[in-house]
Order: sequence, then structure tokens, then C-alpha cells
Amino acid sequence: MSHDPTTTGKNRVLTGDTPTGRLHLGHWVGSIEQRVKMQDDYDCFFLLANMHAYTTRADKPDDIRRDTIEIVKDWLAAGIDPSRATIVLQTEIPAIAELSWYFAMLIPFNRVMRNPTLKTEIETKGLGDKYSFGFPMYAVGQCADILAFRPEFVPVGEDQVAHIEMCREVARKFDQLYCGIDSHSEDDAYETGGGVFPIPKALVGKVGRLIGTDGKNKMSKSLGNAVFLSDTPKQVKKKINAMYPGQSRDPDQPGDPAINPVFQYADVFIKDEAFVAELRERYTKGDNLGDGHVKSHVIEAVNELLEPMRTRRAEFEGPGGDDAVIDIIRDGTARANETAEATLYAAKEAMKLGFGERHLRWK
Ligand code: TRP
Repeated sequence: MSHDPTTTGKNRVLTGDTPTGRLHLGHWVGSIEQRVKMQDDYDCFFLLANMHAYTTRADKPDDIRRDTIEIVKDWLAAGIDPSRATIVLQTEIPAIAELSWYFAMLIPFNRVMRNPTLKTEIETKGLGDKYSFGFPMYAVGQCADILAFRPEFVPVGEDQVAHIEMCREVARKFDQLYCGIDSHSEDDAYETGGGVFPIPKALVGKVGRLIGTDGKNKMSKSLGNAVFLSDTPKQVKKKINAMYPGQSRDPDQPGDPAINPVFQYADVFIKDEAFVAELRERYTKGDNLGDGHVKSHVIEAVNELLEPMRTRRAEFEGPGGDDAVIDIIRDGTARANETAEATLYAAKEAMKLGFGERHLRWK
């Protein structure tokens, strides 16, 4: 097995977010909740993909910087703990940029352009044929984000699975070309057989797709149908109360919970499953259960989830808050560079590019 001097012996996890704005409940159920749970049992790296933000917003550096700091506040509020997990700033990990170049040579151009996640993004963001060269390049960069840390697992939302698949292809190709791994090997045998890279596995969160408060589309900031982790109790109440329950009915008329998006929230956010089953039964029968009543339970559950987040966030609001966040980013990134540099060194050695060890200094 290729030697990683920075291993802790725990299985390693890497995932990340592109800083594009505040995190919402869709992010929580799709990924953040899982990250918080994994911090103790895994060696976790959480990446701020700020370089990727420039692929579509190169003209908005101020916004990207602000979003980068805000997303860390969301992470910390959600319970990501920098003493247990490593927070990584992509633009200060030079190994990622270098590996991206080498990986770009291992994947056919047309394979990148066929990536369904990129195609969807081109459509939904209305990029047409005007997107930068760097835009599709980010998918290759994402392979480097992941492989620089040689993780076993990559917890992500459903929409990212195509990217993880590409990353797995790149890892296999690298190990086959430069480490003599047989192309018929099982994925688990790549690293143990002497490959530089493991073949990481995607872990998709319990709810791949949380519906937005419009009851139609996936929750998303740009569609204006999101409940943010930073929303106040009042905002939560207002947004959920405004949801259309999918049907118009009186409390004593039978209803169909299956077409009522509020019930997806009930399933996801109300911990007492028996209670949700009872609500569902009463709703189906028309047992004097109004929509407002169902919503009030959902609002309560969501606020219960967000309340401790509000308390933790308060520490980083006000003067000095941003500086404290930047310190956390620097600490994590310094640690992350040790791991990423070790990977890069191993990869370059395998590629016959070993010309001596390099030591970066970052102040
Ligand atoms: N592309 C991911 C998203 O938009 C963010 C990301 C960048 C990422 N690098 C990553 C996710 C590496 C997982 C692993 O959500």
C-alpha cells in the first residue's frame, strides 16, 4: 500500500461544498447531517470549493469571498467541529491544482462533456454555449479534490454521484497506468495492491432530494423555495405555513398525504415516527386534522433542529467573527496540505516525476 505519513488509522472521508450562498435544509438532509455524524469515527476533510465558484462567477470575487466565510459559519453552526474534522480551503492546496492537470490527461475530453451533472448545470444555470473553459474543467478538478486526500468515502447528494463516478475512473486509470494495477482488479484491491489511489465510494444521504417550499422543485436557493439553516423561528414559520398542501380539503375530509409535500418534511424532521404515522392516518381519514395542524408540528420540529445551530452561529456573528472563521480555515488548510502534498509526491514518483521533496511554506 502506498504510504501516507499523515494517516490516523481511521477511514478517511472527503466532501465539500461550492460556496454559492447560505446552506438550507436540503443540504442538511442530503449531506451535512451525515458529515456531523461521521466526525468521530472517520478522519474527515471538508473542502471549501472556492475555486469552483470562479468557474461561473469569476466577475464576483467579493461575493465568493463572503460566501466562503458564510458557508464555514453554516458548517460550524451545523455542528462541524474543527477540532475533530479538517476544514480545507481549495485555493490554498496547490496539490489539487497540480493533480487536476495530470488527471485531465487521463480522461477523454468527450467523457467530461458527457458528464450528466455538468449537462444539467449548463441547462439550469442557463450557461448556453458561453461557459468558460474552466467550467467543465471543474469536474476534473473535483477528482483532484477527492483523490488528493485518498479517502475511502465521499458523502454527497444524489446530483454529485456522476462526479464521483468520474473520480473513480480517474483513480483506476492512474493506478493502472503508473502503478501496474491490473485493470481486472476489484476496486478494493487497487490501493492494497500498490496503487497510489483508493477507489473512493459515494455515500448518498438519507434524503437525496428534499422538496422545496414550493412543493414542486428540489429545494434550492436560486428557486427561492429554501428554508435556510440560518433562518429565524419566524422565517421558518412563515415559509412552512405558506406551503400549498397539494390539495384543497376541509379538516374533516379525507386527504392524500402522498401528494402533500408537508408530509415529506414530517417524515424527515419529526423524530417520533409513530406520531407521524398517526398524523398520516388521521389525514387520510379526514379525522378533523387540518393542514395548519400538520404544519405546526413540522415547524416545531424544524425549529428544534435549528435552535442549537442558532446558538453556535451567534459565536461568529458580530465583530471578530470573520477573523475567527479565517483562523479556523488556516489551521485546517495547513493540516490538509501535509496530506495533499504527501499524495502529490507519491503520485509524481509513480509518474516518474520524482525530482526531490518539496516543502511549501504558507504564512
Ligand atoms: N461540486 C460539489 C457541489 O457543487 C462541491 C465539491 C467540490 C465537492 N469538490 C468536491 C463535493 C469534492 C465532494 C467532493 O456540491
